[in-house]
Amino acid sequence: SETERRQRIAAAREVLGDDVLVLGHNYQRREIVEHADHVGDSYQLSEYAADSDAEHVVFCGVTFMAESADLLTDDEQTILLPSMEASCPMAGMAEALQVDAAWERIERATEGDVVPITYMNSYADLKAFCAEHGGLVCTSSNADAAFEWALSRGDTVVFLPDKHLGRNTANAMGLDSVVEFDPWADASSGDLGDADAVLWDGYCQVHERFTADHVADARDAHPDATVVVHPECRPEVVAAADETGSTATISETVADADREETVVVGTEIHLVEHLDRWHETDVVALCGDACMDCNAMRQVDPNYLTWILEGLADGVDRNVVSVDPDVARSAEVALDRMLEL
Ligand code: 13P
Ligand code: SF4
Repeated sequence: SETERRQRIAAAREVLGDDVLVLGHNYQRREIVEHADHVGDSYQLSEYAADSDAEHVVFCGVTFMAESADLLTDDEQTILLPSMEASCPMAGMAEALQVDAAWERIERATEGDVVPITYMNSYADLKAFCAEHGGLVCTSSNADAAFEWALSRGDTVVFLPDKHLGRNTANAMGLDSVVEFDPWADASSGDLGDADAVLWDGYCQVHERFTADHVADARDAHPDATVVVHPECRPEVVAAADETGSTATISETVADADREETVVVGTEIHLVEHLDRWHETDVVALCGDACMDCNAMRQVDPNYLTWILEGLADGVDRNVVSVDPDVARSAEVALDRMLEL
């Protein structure tokens, strides 16, 4: 039962004290975030891990986030992921091997120098690939600065894996020559020419489900509401919204809203529910049905969190996420370039 689980988690944490830090991504369910020392967006959580002296960091999120935490923390800190099945499908849409295989074709099809940018939602070996090809990492909050950095060093940005974040960033910057690259297409097809940006064909299966009709329906139902959406949404959804931002920005929008206001939120349903619970402002899901949940995030079951914490209390490290040192060296270069933006 939930009561028994709470008692077991409390007992394990009593034994562990400051040796453990529990982090919960904004998309984790209530039964997880209530046990987290910090709740936040993917990048904030890595910073919390890096700022902490805790020897063990239990990262309730998906694999690429745990890898990023491993890259940003000391070698003495161990990152544990409650479920190794919690893998973001978008990160899997641009595997380093596949990008490597396509890279020569992309370079051949573009007229100038190409610089890769990978979104944080990617595996460490793709981050390493980007560093080794003169590129960097970005988050949804600094994608525009990353584009500027890349375009000051080359002629074309290759943006991976999220075509919607890439397109939304290019639109906001007024770049007009943006093309999609189909990694499955025949090698002879696709002349990318002198495009400012080439978009890899990846997307988030949760955010892609929102449509401009959902925004129109929400405006009919809540005419005075502010509509805020995540930049992984389709460009027409971002264009129809009032504000766009990372899960941290969405949370700030709700925190800053008046009590009487309604905020319509277009992102994973658990964050919408948390914000409605945590604030007096009326928080409504854009397309309020259960389909908007992330099944990768959902893999982190509260019973697994209990299992990890009880293991640690018994001196057993389960589900350790550790990036290979050679990959980590290059991936850290890509992250450092982002931090210097
Ligand atoms: P944030 O970095 O905004 O928390 O987003 C992570 C994510 O997986 C969005 O779908
Ligand atoms: Fe990946 Fe989308 Fe889930 Fe975020 S919400 S972890 S991008 S599938």
